[in-house]
This record gives sequence, C-alpha cells and structure tokens, in this order.
Amino acid sequence: MSLTPYFNGDNMIRLDKMLAHMGYGSRKEVKELIRKGYVSVDGEIVKSDDIKVDENNEVIICNEVINYDEFIYLMLNKPDGYISATFDNKLPTVLDLIYGYESRNLFPVGRLDIDTYGLLILTNDGKLAHKLLSPKNHVAKKYYLKYDGKYDESFIEIFNKGVKIEDYITKPALFEDLGNNEAYMTISEGKFHQVKRMMEYVGCHVTYLERVSFGNLNLDLNLKRGEFRPLTIEEIQKLKEN
Ligand code: URA
Repeated sequence: MSLTPYFNGDNMIRLDKMLAHMGYGSRKEVKELIRKGYVSVDGEIVKSDDIKVDENNEVIICNEVINYDEFIYLMLNKPDGYISATFDNKLPTVLDLIYGYESRNLFPVGRLDIDTYGLLILTNDGKLAHKLLSPKNHVAKKYYLKYDGKYDESFIEIFNKGVKIEDYITKPALFEDLGNNEAYMTISEGKFHQVKRMMEYVGCHVTYLERVSFGNLNLDLNLKRGEFRPLTIEEIQKLKEN
C-alpha cells in the first residue's frame, strides 16, 4: 500500500478517528459499525475502536477496502456572505458552495470573515489542517486589502514590530503599500478580525479584504467567486511542506 496523504508518513491513528475523517460517518456512527463487526483490519474483524492503524494495514468497512488516497483537498474562492463553518442555523456556510463531496466530512481550514473573499482550503484531513493552523508553524497568509484612512510609511515598521490588539501583541507582519489606499498584508497568525483590527490600530478602516495566498499556495485566479476545484497532487505536496 502506498504512503498516503492521510497518514503523512508518521504516527498511527485510532481506527474510529481515521474512518470518521475519511467520511464513513460521525465518530459515533463508525464506532457503532466497528462494534457490530462491519470493520476488519488485515483480514480480522475488529470490535474495539481504540486500535491504531497506519498505511500498512488493510482496513475493510462494509466490504469496501479503504483507499487512503481518497483524502479530499479543495481550493475555494470564497465569496462574500458565507461563513467559514460547517453548519449554521441562520447563515449560509462555505460548505453550501461545495457539491459532489456531501458525505466526505469536509471542513474549512481556518476562518475568513463573512465579508472576506479569496483562498480557503477545505479538506477532511484533520491532521494536516491541525498542522497548518498550529500557531507553532507560523504559516503565512497574504491578504490584499483596500482601506479608508491615510497611509503613512511608518505602517511598515509598526506592523513589523507588532501591535497590541486587546491582550496580545501581533507577530511581525509584512505591509506592502500598493498606493491608492491598497496594500498587501502578510500575517502568520489567524486571530479574529486580525487584519481589520491591525489596520484600525493605525487609524484605517478596511473596506475590502481578500486572501491571495495561504502558505506556499496561491489563489487560482481562474476560479471565479464561489467556485472551487480539487488541489492538484503537486499543490497537496506543497501544502504539506508548509
Ligand atoms: N483578517 C481579518 O480581519 N479578517 C479575515 O477574514 C482574515 C484576516
């Protein structure tokens, strides 16, 4: 069996967690399937859900051999008006824009505000998402923004040093002035409304915000607002290198 996107070549993972992440049901549902004897590992029915597996184990669920390569990685060009969540009582979510992957338990990797546009990754690879979002990894996120207010050269140094927003100091960020009240801001964190609040700190109000890159992955400019596509093998590889 080939090395797979799921396992990333390191630790073993609990059987029930792996099956749930791969879209075979909620954690509770897959535990039930295991308990009822629908799952085998290397030819033996297993009834305990806390056993651990890796890519060397052949796992069969309801007569279907698990294909570990079937992890899903999508790039969405997020439009305005959708929240970055899997479910909401009132508002449409980014999942409402995705079709063809209904049973795959996709979730957005991190959040963009409801009125923020641009690059959002959706996946069911919890391990990779966790790695990409971990504060320890400082994955860079680059935003294009328009703002009201007066530009000053001091912004570059102010953001490079970090600014105090409520109870924390932001990590060094790169501000690139584009003239005409437009700029790029690259941050390595993902605090709530971070870019907007950083701009408020220097007396400016963000009127338009679009994420143009996430780590070493750029927004595909062929994707119209609201459109998505699977990442290519090369892009998945790049994402994992972050
Ligand atoms: N910073 C913000 O203020 N909003 C976003 O959606 C992303 C970064």
